[in-house]
Amino acid sequence: MALVDSFGRTHNNLRISVTDRCNIRCFYCMPEGPVQFMPRRELLTYEEIADLVRLFVTLGIDRVRLTGGEPLVRQDLPKLVEALRRIDGIRDIGLTTNGILLADQAQALRDAGLSRINISLDALDEAGFREFARRDGLEAVLRGIEAARRVGLGPIKINAVAVRGLTEKQIIPFGHFALETGAEVRFIEYMPLDAENQWERDKVLFAEEIRQILVDHFGPLAANSQQQADAPATDYTFANGQGRIGFIASVSEPFCANCNRLRLTADGKLRNCLFSLEETDLRSLLRGEGPRPEIDAAILAAIRTSVSQKKEGHEINTARFIQPLRPMHSIGG
Ligand code: 5AD
Ligand code: SF4
Repeated sequence: MALVDSFGRTHNNLRISVTDRCNIRCFYCMPEGPVQFMPRRELLTYEEIADLVRLFVTLGIDRVRLTGGEPLVRQDLPKLVEALRRIDGIRDIGLTTNGILLADQAQALRDAGLSRINISLDALDEAGFREFARRDGLEAVLRGIEAARRVGLGPIKINAVAVRGLTEKQIIPFGHFALETGAEVRFIEYMPLDAENQWERDKVLFAEEIRQILVDHFGPLAANSQQQADAPATDYTFANGQGRIGFIASVSEPFCANCNRLRLTADGKLRNCLFSLEETDLRSLLRGEGPRPEIDAAILAAIRTSVSQKKEGHEINTARFIQPLRPMHSIGG
C-alpha cells in the first residue's frame, strides 16, 4: 500500500510544519514587514498531527521531520516528539530549526526521542547573520549547536542558503567550522520561495562555484561513498577525511527524480511538492462530522490522490515556472 506516484517514486518521508511563526526574518523565506500569521484555531493540534501520522504510517511513511516557521517557538514541542515516537512504524524523527531557542530545549528534545537535527545558519559573523536574518541571533545559535552536540543530538547538519553576493565570504569560514566542530555544513542553492518575489536565477550561488572555492583553499574534496541514494545532498569530506561538506543543488541539479517527500503545513494542508500550486485540505476532513472509520478512509484516499497527482518536478529553470503563493515559512522547509 506504498505511496507510489505516477513516476514510480515511493514516498516514505513526511515533513510536518508546526507553525508559520518565526523569531527571525530570513529574506529568502519571510517578508520584512508585518506578517499575517495563521490563527491558532487553524493550526493542527499535536493530537491531530499524531492522528494524521498514524494514517500516513499505514501508507508507508516511516520518517518525519518537524519544521516551521521556527518549530521551537511552538509551545512544548518535545511533547509532539514524544507522541510521534510512540507511533509504531516511525523510525526516524528529525527537526529543522534556526537554533535560537535550542540551547534551552536540546535536552528535552533528546529525551523525547528526537533522532537528528538540522540547524539553519547562513553566516558565521554577526553582520553576515543580519544580512540574511534581518535580526541578531548568531551567539544564541552557536550556543544551541553546542548544546545539541553536548546532549548527543549529533551528527549535526548546518543548512546554509547559498546566495550570490552574500555567501562567498562565508565559504572559507564554514569550511573551518566543519573541520573544527565535526558538523556537516550543507550549502543549499537559494530557491524561489521568498515572500517578496525577489528571487532571480542570478542571485543563486551555485554548488559547483562553492565547491571550487573550497577546493582552491582546502584542497581536494572526496565524495562520500556511503550516502543514501535518496538524499538531496551530495556529501564530501576534505582529503584528510575530516570536515564534512554537502551541497543541495536544488536549482542547478534538481533532485526531483529521487524525491520521497510529502509536506504537511501547520494548517493541515498536504503538499506533494515544495513548489506545488495545489494542496489537499486534510484538516477539514479530520475535523469533519461522521464515524471515525469513514473519516480515516476519506483522509487516506485524499493522500493517495495527492500523491498520484504529483508532478515530475519543479520548473524553476523554465519560463513556465510559477512561484507558489505560500512563502517558505508557511510551507515548512
Ligand atoms: N531557498 C533555499 N533554502 C531555503 N530554506 C528556506 N527558504 C529557502 C529558500 N528560499 C531553507 C532554510 C532551512 C530550511 C528549512 O530551508 O535554510 O534550513
Ligand atoms: Fe525563520 Fe527558518 Fe524562515 Fe529563516 S528560514 S525566517 S529561520 S522559518
